[in-house]
Amino acid sequence: MTKIRENLANIKASSTLAINEYSKKLESEGREIFKFGLGQSPFPIPEVMVNELKNNAHQKDYLSVAGLKELRESIAKYHSYKNKNIYNEKNVIIGPGSKELIFQLQLVIDAELILPIPSWVSYEPQANIVKNDVIWIETNFEENWHLTPEKLANQCKTNKDKEKLLILNSPNNPSGTIHPDLEGLSKIAKMYKVIVISDEIYGELSYSGSYQSISHYYSEGTIITSGISKWCGAGGWRLGAAIFPNELSIIKRAMEPLASETFSAVSSPIQFATIKAYSEDHSNYISITRKIFISISNFIHQKLTFVGVKCLKAEGGFYMLCDFTSVLKKTTAINSSKKLCNILLEEIGFAMLPGSDFGFKENYLICRIAFVDFDGKNAISVASQNKEIDERFIRENCPKIHKGIEKLINWIIKNQ
Ligand SMILES: Cc1ncc(COP(=O)(O)O)c(C=O)c1O
Repeated sequence: MTKIRENLANIKASSTLAINEYSKKLESEGREIFKFGLGQSPFPIPEVMVNELKNNAHQKDYLSVAGLKELRESIAKYHSYKNKNIYNEKNVIIGPGSKELIFQLQLVIDAELILPIPSWVSYEPQANIVKNDVIWIETNFEENWHLTPEKLANQCKTNKDKEKLLILNSPNNPSGTIHPDLEGLSKIAKMYKVIVISDEIYGELSYSGSYQSISHYYSEGTIITSGISKWCGAGGWRLGAAIFPNELSIIKRAMEPLASETFSAVSSPIQFATIKAYSEDHSNYISITRKIFISISNFIHQKLTFVGVKCLKAEGGFYMLCDFTSVLKKTTAINSSKKLCNILLEEIGFAMLPGSDFGFKENYLICRIAFVDFDGKNAISVASQNKEIDERFIRENCPKIHKGIEKLINWIIKNQ
């Protein structure tokens, strides 16, 4: 009988995909589904990038493994500015999405992986594939759902012999919050020589507009991963970047042959077109998309807290963590976040993701909602006409968000 490697046999498809499939099935049966599960930017890719892709459709050659030099140069320039360090094109590797780059980093770095609870769904399975140990550290609402310096220090004091890798994601998926003390955390990381992968895929979507990174304080130990999937909705282009400090060039050198034996290089036309993502000024586009997300986040936060759901306003990206524990105290049949998600999908067509996917214990009634189920092109066009982005804007231009939240609120009131 065919044997599957033990560490791969139990890896399951993430709930994100499962919920999406089930939502599609229900929709095909004529049900109205409110898609608060899948996290994909609703906004169109900036036209200048799309046109550049058309202009480069003829590019047919394999590019170098690390990526097109001009693109790496523009990424290095961009991140030198954002991350307040000096990078050049030799510090950059382009890959087919930052997810693949994070995976390859985990493959080459022999270390135990420290993950805060909550963390993005893919970090742990990737560590399992490459057989790195995972150490989960709990965080809480009061800590903004982020790892405190004290907790990192406590972990680093144990098992001092093993090298440590920390994946940090701020603005965060699933919590939508920004780490409140990157400087404090950097001091501990520096003290214990922790290698940090700073997943900055939502960096441009920080609502305050200020780009915050642990690399501002600990550039020598930080590998930045980022890309075009979130801020400009180009997830399907599959292009991400990893930016290495000179001090960690040994890791980059180990990754290049690996990339050459696996994905070879990212699609040429996409690389040529992506130069425009980094070299052109997209501040108007980003600012309007941020404003829309801020208003939706405020709207959802206000509605949910009013009925007693515990949640923090998003500070970046397009997610929010919602704790239903106190509002569902009496409903003992709902004893896990997965069950809560299934019931809401069945009963009112509200799709969201269980907190257990992000590291929380199964019985914590914490779930992630993504607020992207609207026509981004239309929303940008209406918002650009100086319209106030208020509840009326949301009702008229993001109707599924408005109706979905209303349905959720009514369901909560009924089941309280
Ligand atoms: C936190 C986080 N990191 C990384 C990624 C992967 O992005 P990419 O499209 O660059 O692979 C995602 C995508 O959902 C994400 O949410």
